Amino acid sequence: MLRDGALEGKTIIVTGGGTGLGRAMTTYFLQLGANVVISSRKLDVLETTANELREKTHGKVLAVPCDVRKYDEVEAMIQRAVQEFGRVDVLVNNAAGNFISPTERLTHKAFDVIVDIVLKGTYNCTLALGKHWIAQQQPGTILNIVTTYASVGSAYVVPSAAAKAGVLAITRSLAVEWAKYGIRSVAIAPGPFPTEGAWSRLFPEPLASKLDPAASVPLKRVGEHQELANLAAYLVSDFAAYVNGEVITIDGGEWLNGAGEFNKLELLTPQMWDQIEKTMRR
Ligand code: HXC
Ligand code: NAP
Repeated sequence: MLRDGALEGKTIIVTGGGTGLGRAMTTYFLQLGANVVISSRKLDVLETTANELREKTHGKVLAVPCDVRKYDEVEAMIQRAVQEFGRVDVLVNNAAGNFISPTERLTHKAFDVIVDIVLKGTYNCTLALGKHWIAQQQPGTILNIVTTYASVGSAYVVPSAAAKAGVLAITRSLAVEWAKYGIRSVAIAPGPFPTEGAWSRLFPEPLASKLDPAASVPLKRVGEHQELANLAAYLVSDFAAYVNGEVITIDGGEWLNGAGEFNKLELLTPQMWDQIEKTMRR
């Protein structure tokens, strides 16, 4: 989508960059000329991805293991990125954990694990890099990957909904507070984008064969990874220099479909409309 070299000279940290949407964003950032640091708990997964993407894009990608729940590991990961590339320009808070469950079945530890990865992980990375940027008097961009239910909540993924809502609040709050340091904060709220990580935990069998995630999307399809990568690349690029504090939804219209009082009338046939109109006019 962007012209060649649009991200040249930028170093971008992508948490959870070894898999799924993180990997898709990393691929496109590399293709556009950025250096990328991918980070998560599993070094073997990160290294496999890094090797494959080096071969595919000829870009510079560094794999650094880090559990975003642990502040000292986050600080060390940022230090490693600065050592390797001289500076960091962009943070993409993409790492997440999630699974479906009736809330009353959750242990307090199950609630903790999701909130710790999503909310604590995001503020750990944001705080550590924000302090560094402010001390260095260096501008930066923070892109947070949330979900459409960050704004409206969702049954059966309550820890994730609570944590993503917190991430959205951080996005909007720091967009104002840190703008004076030249730090932008933005977010993407994706609808359904099939990934192994999300699908195995959110649409396991026998649910997967009963519930088609595309059915509730007005465009009648799920998202393509490149579509999300396009939006992410734009938002972290200088072309989006005046976009700050905004959350951009990319869901084919899904959440609005669930929200509109009369949207389900989509099910009515033209014959039914004829009959309804006749009754009403009478
Ligand atoms: C109930 C569960 C559970 C489940 C784990 N737990 N899975 N409880 N139902 N399915 C409980 C455990 O019993 C334990 O509590 C606690 O949670 C911690 O579990 P661990 O397995 O020890 O944690 P850990 O090894 O750190 O793994 C974290 C994880 C795992 C979140 C549970 O799934 C993971 O690593 N996820 C990372 C990737 C991911 O989730 N990707 C999907 C992102 S999709 P007790 O009390 O028993 O000790 C997304 C939005 C998608 O975010 C929106 C789509 C539209
Ligand atoms: P995914 O492949 O499972 O990605 C999650 C990543 O987070 C993994 O790479 C995982 O790697 C990493 N991670 C988990 N816990 C971590 C921790 N404690 N420290 C560091 N890294 C950790 O799933 P995805 O679908 O691509 O999700 C990516 C983002 O998109 C998430 O923020 C998710 O909420 C969001 N999203 C996805 C969808 C969708 O439909 N796919 C929809 C809305 C929002 P390790 O296991 O190696 O740590």
